[in-house]
Parts: sequence; C-alpha cells; structure tokens
Amino acid sequence: MAAATRLISRLTLVTGGGSGIGRAVCQRFACEGASVVVADISEESANETMHSLQGDHRGQAHMATVVDVSSKESVKKLVTQIQTRYFQPPSVCVNAAGITQDEFLLNMEEEQFDTVIEINLKGSFLVTQAVAQALVACGASKGSIVTVGSIVGKVGNLGQANYTASKAGVQGLTRTAAKELSRFGIRCNCVLPGFISTPMTDKVPEKVISKMKSFVPLGRMGEPEEVADVCAFLASDDSRYITGASIEVTGGLFMG
Ligand SMILES: NC(=O)c1ccc[n+]([C@@H]2O[C@H](COP(=O)([O-])OP(=O)(O)OC[C@H]3O[C@@H](n4cnc5c(N)ncnc54)[C@H](O)[C@@H]3O)[C@@H](O)[C@H]2O)c1
Repeated sequence: MAAATRLISRLTLVTGGGSGIGRAVCQRFACEGASVVVADISEESANETMHSLQGDHRGQAHMATVVDVSSKESVKKLVTQIQTRYFQPPSVCVNAAGITQDEFLLNMEEEQFDTVIEINLKGSFLVTQAVAQALVACGASKGSIVTVGSIVGKVGNLGQANYTASKAGVQGLTRTAAKELSRFGIRCNCVLPGFISTPMTDKVPEKVISKMKSFVPLGRMGEPEEVADVCAFLASDDSRYITGASIEVTGGLFMG
C-alpha cells in the first residue's frame, strides 16, 4: 500500500499531541488517512494541533481533548470518551507526552524525580494499559502501541537522573507489553529520539546544543517530522513483524 494511505481507518490516540514530536505525529498520521485523537494536558495546544490536521480521506474525523497521562482516572476518562465518540477503541496509540525537570543528581529534589517518573513512565504505563485493555475487551484483531523513549535512557545524560531513568523504564515497559500483548495481535515498539528541535530542547542552552551537534554523525539536530515518519512505519502494517523493538532516531548519535 502506498505510504500516503497506509493509515486509512486507523483510529489513533496521540498523547502529548499538542506540541513537538506528538504534533508532528498527529499531522503525519492524518496525512496518511488516520483519524486522530489529539490528547494533551494543554487544551489550547491540543486544539491548535487539531486545526492543523488534514482530513481529506473519507470517514476521517479528528478530535482534541485534555488528558493528564499521570492520572489513572483521567486516562480512563479519555478512553471512554474515545469509545463513546467513535464506537471503538484506538487501534494505534503513540505515547508522546513527556517532560524534563533537569538538575544535577547531587541537588535533585525528590519531587523533581517523582514528577518526571509519574508523567514519562507511569503515564506510558497507564495509557498503554488502558488502550490494551479496551482493545482486548472488544476483541480487536490488531493494534500497535508506540512509546517514546530517548537515546539518553541508554547512555545517561548530565542533569537528567530522573529523565533518563524514566526513559530506560519506558523501554522495559514496552518490551514487557510486547511479550504479553502479542497473543492479542497488539505490537508494542519504542522510538528513541536523539536531539530533536522542539519546545523541549528550546530550553537547552545554545552552547550545549552546538556541542551536542558536533557529536551527531549526521551533523544536525533532528526534526519532529523525522521521528513521526518512524512512528507511522511502526503504526502501519509495514512493520507487521516488528514488536518489542527500540528504533533509534538520532542521526547516529551514541550509536553502537
Ligand atoms: N525533543 C527531543 O530532543 C526528545 C528527545 C528524546 C525524547 N523525546 C521525547 O519525545 C516526547 C515529546 O517531546 P517533545 O520534544 O515533543 O516535547 P514538547 O514539550 O514539545 O511536547 C510534549 C507535550 O506533552 C504534553 N504533556 C506534558 N505533560 C503531560 C501530561 N501529564 N499529560 C498529557 N500531556 C502532557 C505537553 O503539554 C506537550 O504538549 C517526550 O516524551 C520526550 O521525552 C524528546
């Protein structure tokens, strides 16, 4: 099937869809024919993304909604809301919601550690679990869940004890989910972005960015669309024999 129509009639939930990588995922998926649920803690950004989405394919209907991925109640409400609106659970889910709260290990407050774990790691667990439960309950024949880890979850990064721990956790969670859910036809894979130009990395000082760039074999930061391309592949049947994988989208940074 041509790439431009690979995701026709795939109802897709994208958390963190209001910005950066999540927004690019929503846009790419909509281009390929998916109906997209843009979910974000910021209602305004979720709506902004939704209004930017193409909807030229027959039967395509997007929606924007608020979710706090770290709250079980909020995630449950989200899945119910989707099922009420579309009469089915999402068969594709991309977990792009995430935050950083950087501080050196010696100074990091317990709260900074907990908050990042709650949103990045527990949030991915809650959303993956709720979507998988809904898919299994309705007897869906297949599903694809994509989580967003980070290359620094593998190699560590100064000032990011909380973030790197959360992202390493996301990889472990994804592999376990892949093992448990494959018998239900649900594939689970993780993308590991390197340094991607988004509001998240806009916070990083220019000095650090230019140093990082010098370590990237491809010589530049990545664009959110380049991560979205890989998510679209993982969501589509083009990756039907891939589960439990982590795919690095780093321009070669920290390879091997
Ligand atoms: N930008 C990078 O270089 C990079 C690298 C590796 C991994 N990542 C990961 O990619 C994902 C997207 O990051 P980004 O760079 O696009 O960041 P971003 O800040 O542009 O977008 C993150 C989105 O998540 C939303 N969000 C935050 N907390 C939430 C919550 N509790 N519930 C629901 N939504 C919430 C934010 O409102 C925002 O819209 C994150 O998981 C991030 O850790 C980013």
